[in-house]
Amino acid sequence: DEQSDAASVHDDLLVISNRQPYRHRYDDDGEVVTDQPVGGLTAGLDPVVQRVDGTWVAWGDGDADEEMVDEDDCVRVPPDDPSYTLRRVWLDDEDIEGYYYGFSNRVLWPLSHGLVGTMEYQENHWQQYREVNEVFAEAVAENAGENSLVWFQDYHFALAPRFVRERAPGPTLMQFWHIPWPDWDTFRACPVREEVLDGLLANDLLSFHVPRYCENFLGCVDACFDDAVVNESTGEVQRGSETTRVRAFPMGVDVDRIDEEAAACTDEEWVEFAEQIGIDPDVTLSVGVDRLDYTKGIPERLAALERFFEEHPDWQGELTHVQKLSESRSRIPAYGDVADRVEEAIERINGRFATDDWQPVVRLDSHLTTTQLYGLYRRADIALVSPVRDGMNLVAKEYVAAQTDDPGVLLLSELAGAEDELGEFALSIAPYDTASFADTIEQAVTMAEDERRERMANLRAAVAANDVDQWMADIFEEARQVRMARER
Ligand code: F6P
Repeated sequence: DEQSDAASVHDDLLVISNRQPYRHRYDDDGEVVTDQPVGGLTAGLDPVVQRVDGTWVAWGDGDADEEMVDEDDCVRVPPDDPSYTLRRVWLDDEDIEGYYYGFSNRVLWPLSHGLVGTMEYQENHWQQYREVNEVFAEAVAENAGENSLVWFQDYHFALAPRFVRERAPGPTLMQFWHIPWPDWDTFRACPVREEVLDGLLANDLLSFHVPRYCENFLGCVDACFDDAVVNESTGEVQRGSETTRVRAFPMGVDVDRIDEEAAACTDEEWVEFAEQIGIDPDVTLSVGVDRLDYTKGIPERLAALERFFEEHPDWQGELTHVQKLSESRSRIPAYGDVADRVEEAIERINGRFATDDWQPVVRLDSHLTTTQLYGLYRRADIALVSPVRDGMNLVAKEYVAAQTDDPGVLLLSELAGAEDELGEFALSIAPYDTASFADTIEQAVTMAEDERRERMANLRAAVAANDVDQWMADIFEEARQVRMARER
């Protein structure tokens, strides 16, 4: 098919990501069970790697992971129908602290999101990040042939491409950076900016979600290196004998699967779930689904909801916001701070406006089944997606893909990458502008059906036209062209 064809100038495919596609752990009876992520990148890429019998290199973070691998740290997956090799990399506590909680999530994450003040650089974290990138690079070099296609995922591996290149000149190297890339005036705050940029320039193809991040990256390279020739119009960097193509590929979601999952949530199941979480199944429903991260604009969203209920007391008892939260990176103080702010805001809003049989904000922390999650999206009359900065934001696209009947309204932050594709038909919000955000909530909940229908039809067309399969096909096609250009 299209993706395998596009990858076909390469002998094989290696994917490198921090999170693994299959994780083995012991259940309560001591039996080994397999966890598989439901959505997102790992779930989207898994069928592609299966089709080409590739190799996936990732951090083995499950407590039964070690028991399942052979002497080369490899296990064939999926467990029911082994089709490709998962090569696990082991990290000890110090590695995890420095590489994952340290440089990845205290430096690259805030910096890429433009939040310099949240950055906390420590030299030992950086050393650990380098070492872990080197360990991954060794695993890649051992498994890659002359003609392999090696695909790094995300900001955990800014240096690994350089380390692989030093060991193996043959393979095509590419990377997708799933978060924003900031402008030079922001990025220059990074004490190790040269090494980070140099590591990424070892890729033949480097991709971001939207053209703006590509432009920012090229601007950084231009400002940082005297010996780099940056061609803004072709998106190419020439440095010594190396060429790096920089391209935008906005990521999509698995539209068909989400459509099916949402449709599978029957009215009965919905009513049962609504009762379980303590909401009236017929209330006007607002939804938010986020990792508990300071970039997601959750306190800003709650402030807008508070303002909305202040100004529109007639909506008391009529609108419920269900906020699903997943704990994330909570060892990092900035994450603890935002968690406290969110908790306080929810308590305050519920304290101010709740009635005997209604709560304005219902917080969900526990795991939802796919049917529950997509059922919630499908029934939600409005979705509040309000990041203060986001590379793309796939929740916005998932909500749209799950709107299989009575169309809802998407409120989307103008600071999310998804705004480029969806901004025209969503209601745009400026997350820090509480007053206008609250007005936009009012506009959404009172919008006439005709307008809702038209907006949602356009949103659904945009999301379907660029789903996760299309995204991958486009990237593999670019990789094919890059390979052919290298051979010439
Ligand atoms: O948005 C970037 C990203 O790496 C996603 O690809 C991923 O879903 C998310 O962050 C998860 O973060 P973590 O692996 O730190 O839990």
